[in-house]
Amino acid sequence: MLGEQLPFSQACENNKEPILQVLQKYLTGDELVLEIGSGTGQHAVHFCQHFPQLLWQPTDRAENLENLEKRISSSKLTNLIAAICLDVDQEVWPRIQPDIVFTANSLHIMSERSMTKFFHGVGRVLSKDGKVLIYGPLKYQGDFSTESNANFDLWLKQQNQESGVRDFEAILQLAVEAELRLLKDHAMPANNQLLVFQHI
Ligand SMILES: C[S@@+](CC[C@H](N)C(=O)[O-])C[C@H]1O[C@@H](n2cnc3c(N)ncnc32)[C@H](O)[C@@H]1O
Repeated sequence: MLGEQLPFSQACENNKEPILQVLQKYLTGDELVLEIGSGTGQHAVHFCQHFPQLLWQPTDRAENLENLEKRISSSKLTNLIAAICLDVDQEVWPRIQPDIVFTANSLHIMSERSMTKFFHGVGRVLSKDGKVLIYGPLKYQGDFSTESNANFDLWLKQQNQESGVRDFEAILQLAVEAELRLLKDHAMPANNQLLVFQHI
């Protein structure tokens, strides 16, 4: 019998190791992590394999849950909890208090309004001193910094007018309002960034 096809993203395969190297700087390894927009679940599986004491809660919008859960359940990892629905637009967040919120490549898919709700939600649920790690491409002072990010922004807007590469300054403003202070902005491969914030 053929095994079931698992959801797959080549980008995830490429970036999961560089992201793990940054996570290793900030995680002690025994935290409760809430992931927003888990997508294929490849990040969740990879990081849980490397942090066996971590408890990881993957989430996504309702339409992505079935696919996501295929990879989560097939991993058989005991520190990876079954995926649950979290759409930041609905403002209904799981009743947990994570030590870490992680999200990759989701803010440029969400509308700006949804990104605002993302930060409101994070500010509400994150434990004191908890950290937020946000991976993806960014603009600085309105500048894409590379042609490939500018082209990516155009492509995103063709899919959905409300999507787009986000401004670092806008993220910083929302973070301040959510009582998050920036610890570090890591430059990552392929013109991406990994922002690390701490809840104060
Ligand atoms: C490009 S995918 C990234 C998936 C995965 N994190 C990765 O790095 O491959 C964007 C993700 O953001 C999620 N997303 C978009 N809008 C969202 C919202 N309003 N609330 C929660 N997740 C959202 C999508 O469902 C999708 O899983």
